[in-house]
Amino acid sequence: MARPIQAHIDLSALENNLHVARRATSSRLMSVIKADGYGHGLMRVAEALAKTDGYALLNIQDAVRLRDSGFRQAILLLEGFFGAEELPVIAEYDLSCVIHNAAQIAMLDGYPGRGMLDIWLKVNSGMNRLGFPPQQVAQVMEQLRRHRAVRDITLMTHFANADEARGVAEPLALFNDVAAPYRVARSLANSAALLRYPATHADWVRPGIMLYGASPFADVSAQQLGLKPVMTLSSRIIATQQLRAGDEVGYGALFRAGHAMRIGIVACGYADGYPRQSGRVEPEAPGTHRPTPGGYATNGTPVLVDGQRTRTLGRVSMDMLYVDLSNLPQTDAGSRVVLWGEGMPIEEVARAAGTVSYELMCALTPRVRIVT
Ligand SMILES: Cc1ncc(COP(=O)(O)O)c(C=O)c1O
Repeated sequence: MARPIQAHIDLSALENNLHVARRATSSRLMSVIKADGYGHGLMRVAEALAKTDGYALLNIQDAVRLRDSGFRQAILLLEGFFGAEELPVIAEYDLSCVIHNAAQIAMLDGYPGRGMLDIWLKVNSGMNRLGFPPQQVAQVMEQLRRHRAVRDITLMTHFANADEARGVAEPLALFNDVAAPYRVARSLANSAALLRYPATHADWVRPGIMLYGASPFADVSAQQLGLKPVMTLSSRIIATQQLRAGDEVGYGALFRAGHAMRIGIVACGYADGYPRQSGRVEPEAPGTHRPTPGGYATNGTPVLVDGQRTRTLGRVSMDMLYVDLSNLPQTDAGSRVVLWGEGMPIEEVARAAGTVSYELMCALTPRVRIVT
């Protein structure tokens, strides 16, 4: 028997989520599969999303792998190229590539190829991560349109607040202004913009997180959006402990039992990618649901044990974590634990751990067995 932790990747959920994206727009779909398909495995994700119109990622090696495996869709390098030596590969493999700074244009100038490259020119519409400032776009467009190496140009930007109350109004107006003089394709929308702001759809949308079945919004669940979780991280209880009032749990003794209770030890820790900051402990506050004599009350992260909700206790260790079994008398060593995924929304786990679902998905470590 292997250690019981595993990540089940539901490929039909990926197809379902792609379908949800399709239903929301008539634009072409560039599926974002960077970071090893948001931690789900590049090739299996690419195959499950075969009905997409394009793939967006970072590493040229991954792009080449996709082409060599027979994928014919557009493949976009989201950070473009890092050195001039990549340009012949980009041309040979028919990759599209972002250009976001002057250094890349200088490299392009030294490249002797003709009419080979599809460029996505990135406009900085306020996020201040990548892209040319709006006032430089006219000049760069002029340069690229006349450039011997360039075949086609798409104008793109990326939103900082599409998932927040602030929305996209400002950057959308700015981008539309900048793009107005040009009859070129445009791309703006991530998942949040795709789902909430049809005015951003333009020619290409670029959904990522929604394809993996997580909601980009704090106030709308994935289920409400019709999305299905792709990754279910599960394990089992490998031991139980009976605590007396005052007994402490784990490194740093961050949990102290206020009364007799039973806990389960789960084969899952931070070396598997489970966030160590989960199961954090806050000083006891008046009205806290379970005050303890030690002056602490836990604020645990939700988990499912044999399909029933409970919470983590104390500090997550490298290979194990603790769960509260006080109201789950039927559970025991061997009980199945769902850390996130089916029945336990990853967004809820992320919120409790002070992070986002993106980070949890990407943080899964190679020692976790993947099953499909
Ligand atoms: C440029 C760009 N476009 C699209 C996406 C997809 O965003 P999301 O996963 O929020 O849909 C990302 C991801 O961060 C991105 O960097």
